[in-house]
Amino acid sequence: MVLLGEQFPNFSAETSMGTIQLHEWLDNSWGILFSHPNDFTPVCTTELARVVQLYPEFQRLGVKVIALSCNSVESHITWIEDIKSYTKMQVSKFPYPIIADESRTIATLLGMLDPDEVDDNGIPLTARAVFIIDPLKKMRLSILYPATTGRNFDEILRVIESLQLTDRHRVATPVDWKKGEDVMVLPTIPPEEAKKIYGDKMKLINVPSGKQYLRIVAQPTDSS
Ligand code: BEZ
Repeated sequence: MVLLGEQFPNFSAETSMGTIQLHEWLDNSWGILFSHPNDFTPVCTTELARVVQLYPEFQRLGVKVIALSCNSVESHITWIEDIKSYTKMQVSKFPYPIIADESRTIATLLGMLDPDEVDDNGIPLTARAVFIIDPLKKMRLSILYPATTGRNFDEILRVIESLQLTDRHRVATPVDWKKGEDVMVLPTIPPEEAKKIYGDKMKLINVPSGKQYLRIVAQPTDSS
């Protein structure tokens, strides 16, 4: 299992686009690796199709996308035609690789297996895991959903927007934040320093405790 902030493991994998070494394939980009339980299943088809639709957004943020299940490369290649058809978009080339982890080596390494979801031989399948990996190959987010619940990939994009912003500026993004909305000054910045940085642009929300930790500013731009 990899924990938040730890180095994401490197491995070799067979994929629908040939053999890759994860770190080499990622190069200096951000990445998301996400797993699904099984090819030719309904929820998984909707999820991988949604990632095709959102692919230009992942590209805009400089994020490489890779999927994974325990099915074979041949299965992935046949299933990809169904996913392309389901997107109802003109997709000439499926935009991202799908890892074929038949041996479950990667799924075991990353703690993705779901003991409640098994194949015809009773062997566990992968749950719906998502990992966000930063350009230094650190793991920055990990989520694990059950097989019966499809994920929301707009939320994954929202987290990446937040991670990229908060890596550049000393702010944190509040509940339901979206790109362009106000953000919170980091609670670790002392009041005098916050005043020096933000001056009148910082709005303080008074609370019964009298503690001055709810400090709101406009989303910083790269020049601010
Ligand atoms: C699905 O993708 O629809 C699915 C896969 C495994 C278990 C339940 C649902």
